[in-house]
Amino acid sequence: MNLGVTNSSPGLHRERETHGGIQVEGLTKRYGGVHALDGLDLSAPEGQVLGLLGPNGAGKSTLVRILATLLKPDGGRASVCGFDVVRDPQAVRRAVGVAGQYAAVDEYLTARENLNIFGLLARMGKQAARSRAEELIERFDLGHAADRPARTYSGGMRRRLDLAVALIAGPRCLFLDEPTTGLDPRARVEVWAVLGDLVRQGTTALVTTQYLEEADQFADLITVIDQGREIATGKPAELKDRVGGDHLDLAVRRAADLPAAVSALAAAGLPDPKPDPGTLCVTAVLPGGTSRMTEVLRRLDGAGVEVADITVRRPTLDDVFFALTGKADEG
Ligand SMILES: Nc1ncnc2c1ncn2[C@@H]1O[C@H](COP(=O)(O)OP(=O)(O)OP(=O)(O)O)[C@@H](O)[C@H]1O
Ligand SMILES: [Mg+2]
Repeated sequence: MNLGVTNSSPGLHRERETHGGIQVEGLTKRYGGVHALDGLDLSAPEGQVLGLLGPNGAGKSTLVRILATLLKPDGGRASVCGFDVVRDPQAVRRAVGVAGQYAAVDEYLTARENLNIFGLLARMGKQAARSRAEELIERFDLGHAADRPARTYSGGMRRRLDLAVALIAGPRCLFLDEPTTGLDPRARVEVWAVLGDLVRQGTTALVTTQYLEEADQFADLITVIDQGREIATGKPAELKDRVGGDHLDLAVRRAADLPAAVSALAAAGLPDPKPDPGTLCVTAVLPGGTSRMTEVLRRLDGAGVEVADITVRRPTLDDVFFALTGKADEG
């Protein structure tokens, strides 16, 4: 990104101080012998949603906690809305909202009480806190339960309340740590819709997830991390292209058919089909998507392969990992 600042060395990133989004450079954090963050670089332009994708233990929550000033890094730099998280934590706190795996909501208070208190904590006036609470109760469809203690909520309602609390003070920058984990499909779509609204209003967001499909739904840009390091960044479509697009999963009935199945897929133009004798499955990238399926089925039939199941699916995080690192995700 070019903000019109001349940079004699591209490694210096001098524009950082004036950048409104999120900038992370060489960030490190260790827990004993574990490098939770190991020189992490990433950035989210102002007003955009960055999807942070990575397996269990990749360092996603550690990064969110550092950006939210709940945790101090060991080294490197991070800035949010132009404020350094170590030098200027107060300013960062005023600018951000967080909802995460460690939610701030008080279980024994109602949604209305929680929202009111967080409004007051954010130094809103009494009246402003109250009307903001009502607005969020309405927006997150919590009206029917707003006077019940949060501990009686379903998982989806709890998550909606977490999000509402994160939004109380109209943050310029929002960190959401796995906001949709455990939600049913309808609640997920609602969370994405709220995210979309916010970003249209100019809020920058960093949203962690373990699912490429999900990041694809809401992110302008995706950064994939593993073992505390960035391993790929791009628009969702770019990452999918790097992974090779749609995938085909073929299950055969007889182990003896596996080699013939591999040959048939290769003959149909699928590069490097991978057989798994344990599950009697063959997986391959499907160039051109479903349009190639007629050819695949013709070849399999011609080779006398007995097909138990055949599915075409979008690439998953596992596929991204495999393509980027050459190894399966063991996280
Ligand atoms: N308080 C802690 N003490 C010791 N180790 C920790 C602590 N917090 C995190 N870790 C370790 O740091 C690494 C990164 O953890 P982190 O929670 O940031 O990963 P994550 O990407 O959020 O994973 P998940 O998808 O499971 O939420 C892991 O190896 C984890 O075990
Ligand atoms: Mg986590």
